Amino acid sequence: MALDMTPEQKAIGRANFQRAVGKLAEAPTVGEGVTRRRFMQGLVAAGATMPVAAAAYFGYSNSAFTGRPVKAALIGAGDEGGVLVGEHNPAYLEFVAFSDIRPSNFRERIFKAEPAPSPRRGFNFHYGNNARDIIRHHVDYREILSNPDIEAVVIALPLHLHAKVAMEAMDAGKHVLCEKLMAWNITQCKAMIRKAEETNRILSIGHQRHYSMLYAHATAVIKSGVLGDVTHIRALWHRNNARPVMDGNQPKTERMGNGRIPVYRDSWRKDVTSEDKEFLRGRDLRQFGYKDINELVRWRLFRRTGGGLMAELGSHQLDACSIFLGKVRPIAVTAVGGKNFYQDEREVEDSVFCTFEFPAPGYDANRPNYDRDRHAFNQRKVVTVTYSSINTNSFEPYGECVMGSEGTLVLEGEQNVMLWGGGGRSTAVTVTTGGGRRPAIDSSASTDGPGERQAAASGQNALGHGPPSRGYREEMEHFAYCIRMRDQGMERDRADLKPRCGGEAAMADAIIALTANQAIRRQQRIEFQNAWFDPRSAEVPDSDMVEERL
Ligand SMILES: NC(=O)c1ccc[n+]([C@@H]2O[C@H](COP(=O)([O-])OP(=O)(O)OC[C@H]3O[C@@H](n4cnc5c(N)ncnc54)[C@H](O)[C@@H]3O)[C@@H](O)[C@H]2O)c1
Repeated sequence: MALDMTPEQKAIGRANFQRAVGKLAEAPTVGEGVTRRRFMQGLVAAGATMPVAAAAYFGYSNSAFTGRPVKAALIGAGDEGGVLVGEHNPAYLEFVAFSDIRPSNFRERIFKAEPAPSPRRGFNFHYGNNARDIIRHHVDYREILSNPDIEAVVIALPLHLHAKVAMEAMDAGKHVLCEKLMAWNITQCKAMIRKAEETNRILSIGHQRHYSMLYAHATAVIKSGVLGDVTHIRALWHRNNARPVMDGNQPKTERMGNGRIPVYRDSWRKDVTSEDKEFLRGRDLRQFGYKDINELVRWRLFRRTGGGLMAELGSHQLDACSIFLGKVRPIAVTAVGGKNFYQDEREVEDSVFCTFEFPAPGYDANRPNYDRDRHAFNQRKVVTVTYSSINTNSFEPYGECVMGSEGTLVLEGEQNVMLWGGGGRSTAVTVTTGGGRRPAIDSSASTDGPGERQAAASGQNALGHGPPSRGYREEMEHFAYCIRMRDQGMERDRADLKPRCGGEAAMADAIIALTANQAIRRQQRIEFQNAWFDPRSAEVPDSDMVEERL
């Protein structure tokens, strides 16, 4: 994301961002419609002399629990299930059971820590080496749903099972935290929202950026107006899963159809282990939702079970872009994509490029972009968001670059935010906020004065001193908090007792990702319709995506 940028330029960008955060916290107002209080409740509460705690920032506390964490079960103990176990806080959410059908995951892996920097710390890390005696394993998740002691489930299953299992869980009286993408199609998303309402259960979806303080601060800086008019966001997620597996000195090959194809180290096309084969031999995999074991292990490759790059990766970053722009819905999308590299059995694209048009403040839907009579463009308040995801090159890994008329903000790998003014990447900047003006980046200001040093220190305190949390922990803590507070009779509709990524927010993310898939497949520019975002309307962008029952 930091193409041709030197370490010095990055350091300047990081320091600029810290100063901007600190300066904006001192300002009486930080831009159009953003009051100081809304900008950084936690930061202001703490006076920014102490590092800001996520719980204070997101408005929850552990006082709701009084030694009674929410009893929960994990359904799906694979890669992401392991991340969630690693990140959960047992004082809020205590796992008492889990379900999985692959022994390569449920026997050892979900219990044992993986070496750092992996966030997968396993049940043993939290519950001790006898965790296996405390946390009961079930092959059939329905045994979890019929256990009245379990209050909530955390679902980290392949995409095609999200809606089915979440709705069964809510029917069984469980609150649900389900991984993203919310569901395999938009009809399922709407059914999940309605189910949560009918059953009065909390439904939270795991787009963790809604609980990242780093993203919250970046959003506040963008909303304050210091970047000027934002007209472009460039987001990307590039990986290289095309490195050949070697067999001695030769690239390994495997049989495909009548010929042989090279084998690559691809995280979406994992090996099927003999342990899993043996355990599942003789069982009817259709009862678990699969045609065969290949579909179970490599579910991301197939249309029936996965949603492609936009569902898996793009949804996170388009979620971030819509947050940056004030949670607005896009106007339209055009996109290209395809299976440009692999020759294997995959049915999804290995490369996508999308262009979204988002409304900027002042956008008028009735004003045409191009005036045919005058042969001239009208001024149009639109932000162009480009998104690329590829499998064959990781030169720029992943992040978002927000480009305004007065400055640029880059969020790199969910870990690092940098800010530069209009003067280029080597310029130290500060943010001026006084005099009732809109906050502005000032690249001529000295950064050495005591005021600037104080701003940098309070910005740093707001951002935290260690590696930033990616939000998994906070999303689970807040989910548990919402459950306990509602148990105590707190009003259901109180904004702070609703997940920050509830059904409707997550459905909007699913609509963005799955409509981009439609644009790729139909090779068309597609305009987003309001009815798609209404859970009570039957209108959806992907009516051709009909579940294939086994
Ligand atoms: N929020 C994030 O950043 C993030 C990151 C990665 C994955 N995810 C999401 O998490 C979900 C899981 O992804 P993953 O990478 O962990 O996949 P995975 O294949 O590693 O894990 C899925 C697990 O579910 C188990 N499973 C499948 N069907 C089951 C059934 N019927 N009953 C019980 N267990 C069953 C599998 O055996 C496997 O262990 C996906 O929706 C994915 O998009 C989110």
